[in-house]
Amino acid sequence: MSDQHNFIRRRDRFLEQLRGNAAIIPAAPMVTHHADCEYPFRQNSDFWYLTGFDEPEAVALFLPHRPIGERFVLFVLPKDLTIEAWNGFRYGSEGAVNHFGADIAHPLEDLPKRLGDYLIGAEGIAFRIGQHPKIEPIVLKVLAEQLEKVQRSGSFAFSLIDPSPVLHQLRLIKEPSEIGRMRDAARISAKGHEIARNAASPGMSERHIQALIEQCFLENGARGPAYGSIVAGGDNACILHYTKNNGLLRDGELLLIDAGCSLSDYYNGDITRTFPINGRFTGEQRALYEVVLTAQEAALQAVVPGNNAEQVHAIALKKIVEGLIALGLLKGSVESLIEQGAYRHLFMHRTGHWLGLDVHDVGAYRLGEYPVKLKTGMVLTVEPGIYVSDRFVVPDGQPSIDQRWKGIGIRIEDDVLVGTNDPEILSADAQKSIDAMQNYFP
Ligand code: GLY
Ligand code: MN
Ligand code: MN
Repeated sequence: MSDQHNFIRRRDRFLEQLRGNAAIIPAAPMVTHHADCEYPFRQNSDFWYLTGFDEPEAVALFLPHRPIGERFVLFVLPKDLTIEAWNGFRYGSEGAVNHFGADIAHPLEDLPKRLGDYLIGAEGIAFRIGQHPKIEPIVLKVLAEQLEKVQRSGSFAFSLIDPSPVLHQLRLIKEPSEIGRMRDAARISAKGHEIARNAASPGMSERHIQALIEQCFLENGARGPAYGSIVAGGDNACILHYTKNNGLLRDGELLLIDAGCSLSDYYNGDITRTFPINGRFTGEQRALYEVVLTAQEAALQAVVPGNNAEQVHAIALKKIVEGLIALGLLKGSVESLIEQGAYRHLFMHRTGHWLGLDVHDVGAYRLGEYPVKLKTGMVLTVEPGIYVSDRFVVPDGQPSIDQRWKGIGIRIEDDVLVGTNDPEILSADAQKSIDAMQNYFP
């Protein structure tokens, strides 16, 4: 189990920042896969961040208006040996107090009758509407009752607010223990990529490579892949969210792998590498790879405190557009191409996202009109790409694309910690130089 001190400190900070509002943070439910089979359980990241409690259906209350020793309340699935014989161990209320630091714990079924009392004296409720269909009706009923009471007593308004801005701002800046786990996640993910590249050869299936990389994740103690692994040979790489992974690896084509592991405590890696399946780039593949690598390395250097993610994207985009002009795949000035978006048939996504307990992690990118500045302790991906495929329509005025470029999809993605000065590339164990991408068939 993760270190309770970290969770206690986080809860204290969250309680402080709630001011007088009581927060209700539900755990994730079990999700049906088909018929009566369920997906493996995946905890809600907000709930995990504050509790470290890995059971479904629970509800956490954070009650800053209550005395110390009554501020963290958990409602949990009760112990039931018959159900546990089928579905596994449950901590129950006693375990929630003894092992997870709850001040008070109750069986989940008591939530409707107890919630109202716990909220007496709060200024409002911090609860995210629209995401918890089982808990929301209970919360709204209690909210309506509280509104009735305050109206009758003539006191202040009782408000409903969203806990996300406060909570997600906390999650955006990783604590030292979280940074350690992000390093672990990136290291194991990178190891999987190295294994995959060394194993890949013409005639193998995409699925086989997926199996090898996910085997590495599991063998190294991860829960499994952080998201559907993308193992995309040739033109499949130009489908950005390709997860079918049912094609064959062909001689002369590239293989794009976008895969990362999720650790036991949900910290994630998210790495993309692209390399020639037969160990040798064609001229066109190599030229485009160099453009993406140059763009990615320039963007990585910009991941420093004080810059922002939009600047990181702008640097990558400029290098990609410059490279594509030099290769004759775009025509015009860098500025006008960028202004008109006339590059989007070749590079159609942003250069990165926050990374943490969620792969596309929480935290604002902009506050009002200002981009959020990078700060020490933030983790983000840097992942420019170029995709040349018949699927994308060449805009008017841009050169039509010769067949020899088609079916080339390249992305290079690293996980980067904003350090005090220089960026720390957490995924550096996954090689990406031109030589390393070619050197496995001497
Ligand atoms: N693997 C998802 C992403 O790169 O954003
Ligand atoms: Mn990513
Ligand atoms: Mn990715």
